[in-house]
Amino acid sequence: MRKNNKRQSWGSQIGIILAVAGSAVGLGNFLRFPVQAASNGGGAFMIPYFVALFLVGLPLMWVEWTLGRFGGGFGHSTAPGVFHTVWRKNRFIKYFGVIGIFGPLIIFIYYTYIESWTLAYSFFALLDKYSGATTQGAMQSFLRGFQGLEKNSFFTSMIPAYIFFLIAFTLNMSVLYHGIKGGIERLVKIAMPILFICAVALVIRVLMLGAPNASKPTWNLLNGMGFLWNPQFEALKSARVWLAATGQIFFTLSVGIGVILTYASYLSKTDDVALSGLSAVSVNEFVEIILGASIVIPAAFVFFGPGQVTEVAKSGAFNLSFVTMPLIFEQIPWSALFGFVWFFLLFVAGITSSVSLAQPAIAFLEDEFNISRKKAMWIFGLATFILCQPAIFFLGHGVVDELDFWGGTFCLVVFATVEIILFGWVFGMDKAWEEIHRGADMRVPKIYKFIIKYVTPSFLITLLTVWFWQEWLPIISMQNVAPQDKPYVLGTRILLLSIFLILSFLVRAAWKKRRTGKQEVVA
Ligand code: ALA
Repeated sequence: MRKNNKRQSWGSQIGIILAVAGSAVGLGNFLRFPVQAASNGGGAFMIPYFVALFLVGLPLMWVEWTLGRFGGGFGHSTAPGVFHTVWRKNRFIKYFGVIGIFGPLIIFIYYTYIESWTLAYSFFALLDKYSGATTQGAMQSFLRGFQGLEKNSFFTSMIPAYIFFLIAFTLNMSVLYHGIKGGIERLVKIAMPILFICAVALVIRVLMLGAPNASKPTWNLLNGMGFLWNPQFEALKSARVWLAATGQIFFTLSVGIGVILTYASYLSKTDDVALSGLSAVSVNEFVEIILGASIVIPAAFVFFGPGQVTEVAKSGAFNLSFVTMPLIFEQIPWSALFGFVWFFLLFVAGITSSVSLAQPAIAFLEDEFNISRKKAMWIFGLATFILCQPAIFFLGHGVVDELDFWGGTFCLVVFATVEIILFGWVFGMDKAWEEIHRGADMRVPKIYKFIIKYVTPSFLITLLTVWFWQEWLPIISMQNVAPQDKPYVLGTRILLLSIFLILSFLVRAAWKKRRTGKQEVVA
């Protein structure tokens, strides 16, 4: 625990709400959500999605705000320290907390690179760089050339991609360098209004599309919306749809990652967490369901029709955003401007999330090793800069997918399960309830006492069990990995394991140092 550095804090309550909302609103809202919804049957997806939102997402949001603020009171901003504070008698619980630093660190590695593509494409849109590509195939070549997956008439090297990566990475580091109040809070206060303006402008433009193809009057906006919103109850029987919907809730709300815990640790003991947590969820869901859902899918529907929209979505988030959307914009007036607004919106949404993903590792170094914020930023920057390289250069070999699976999917559910059990069962629901309501600006509905203690943990344990049952063997044995990619996937797994072990070792060293320090004081 730090002795010399003063703990950082937020400048205002609206600052932290915007920061948590900024962390939540990201590429997941505009890209991952439409892809998940469309490839899981459109309206079929929304029922499990809402169930997961109310039974998992919202409770976890309250739990993370509350645990974070509680841990911050003991000088801990990250999960090892927070978990240890909640369950002091257990020597091992702090190692479960390592997931709360490991997960965001791993996501940060590939997220920042993808974020840099959105920055690059913002410029490409303005400078009319991709307008020569007028078919799916040509636009795909443009993207692949940019990513260094092929050499073609658009790109002969990865230099442009690397330059934009350097710019995006440096921007992230410069925000982090200025800390919580001077960096992150300042960023979100500017970025969130920009994000809203861009998203609303795009939604209005999409709503004005009507039925652009005169020979296909059914390819219209209303049917495009209906595709997403008409419920299909039979999908409730599919475990796959439930898993996808719950995974989306985790990713989009940034719960189970460890970042909200860290952000909330900079609150003071009596700052509200109940209404703030609910506000952050509401902002995220407004952006995801109202704005995110009204851009990509309806636009793809009216231009490509119901048959192709699922195919387009299934081809993945990257294709949707970097191939389909530019093609759509090319067919409307002011294409350069709308292309720019779309990619810049993604960039702004991305950077407010990526800085939050970096903060746990930085806070860990600050808190547990008493390292200054600036020095911690440099250590983090150097380490993640090196770690980003495999994601950049081996993109075509499944490295990013592997990082996303372990860091951005699996760890989230495991972390959330540990966290909710700790909160409801070890901390104890009565004490937990009191803690949620300390300084609260609203009362959490009483039913959540029951949900947090019984429903959410059962939901998560069932999810993990089903997942193990269905997926464990194929994933471990790399059944779905192409033979030529296996060495890369294996290499990524070894890298991930090494990072986890190094972080665990650091936790052990920090606790040992603290014990020795205490003994010296006593002596
Ligand atoms: N919550 C962030 C997103 O949706 C990670 O992109």
